[in-house]
Amino acid sequence: MKEEIAVELLDELLPADPEERTKALEDLDVLLMRYESAIREIRTKFEILNDELSLSGHQNPIASISSRRKTLSGILEKLKRQGFPLTLESIEENLTDVAGIRIICSFMDDIYKVAKMLQQQDDITVLLVKDYIAKPKPNGYRSYHMIVEVPVFFSNEKKSMKVEVQIRTIAMDFWANLEHRMRYKKDIEAADEIIDELKECADNIAATDTKMMIIREKIRAIKPN
Ligand code: GTP
Ligand code: MG
Repeated sequence: MKEEIAVELLDELLPADPEERTKALEDLDVLLMRYESAIREIRTKFEILNDELSLSGHQNPIASISSRRKTLSGILEKLKRQGFPLTLESIEENLTDVAGIRIICSFMDDIYKVAKMLQQQDDITVLLVKDYIAKPKPNGYRSYHMIVEVPVFFSNEKKSMKVEVQIRTIAMDFWANLEHRMRYKKDIEAADEIIDELKECADNIAATDTKMMIIREKIRAIKPN
């Protein structure tokens, strides 16, 4: 195992018996590999949608895609924090964000377009949708979230894996990245003011995202001469 790990938590997850321990470590590696495979499956689906829509006259609805598999420490710490058992089964049962993929769109309507297209694919099961664009968080956070399940085919079995999908505009992503930085600051002094300013920016960004779609439509309507 190459990544930094929370040793005590890993110890709690693994059986004491050396033989069982080795086996459990192998199973853990397999499980993490499965999540990475699931991310690749979902990424490919979005890339294909982007390629197809680009051919049919839409300009790249997807501006970029990023993804991450939660680190082992992150997984163990979250299980612990939420009071779930530290077992391999518990990871699959209780965590929905081990595999995460973020789709960045230029325009707000493309978010719903690509989300719907993924949801309609017959190998995808949608477990949960949280539309923080229709209903932003009190701090101003906007994004379209889904938890989906995708089958991944391995040498002699098929496994359904959960993937967290976040879809947002470039502007929403810009905002979320800055707001995220704020979370790690303990200095409360300036916090209230910054929170207010961030909220104001989030609302301005939402207005601008809407305006950008309107302008795009006006440009589309111009007849070539
Ligand atoms: P976690 O247990 O924190 O992962 O989230 P949750 O179960 O409450 O689900 P939710 O869909 O609300 O959030 C999932 C992820 O969305 C988070 O891990 C962040 O990546 C992102 N997110 C949610 N809310 C915010 C927010 O207010 N600001 C920022 N920057 N990101 C957020
Ligand atoms: Mg999370």
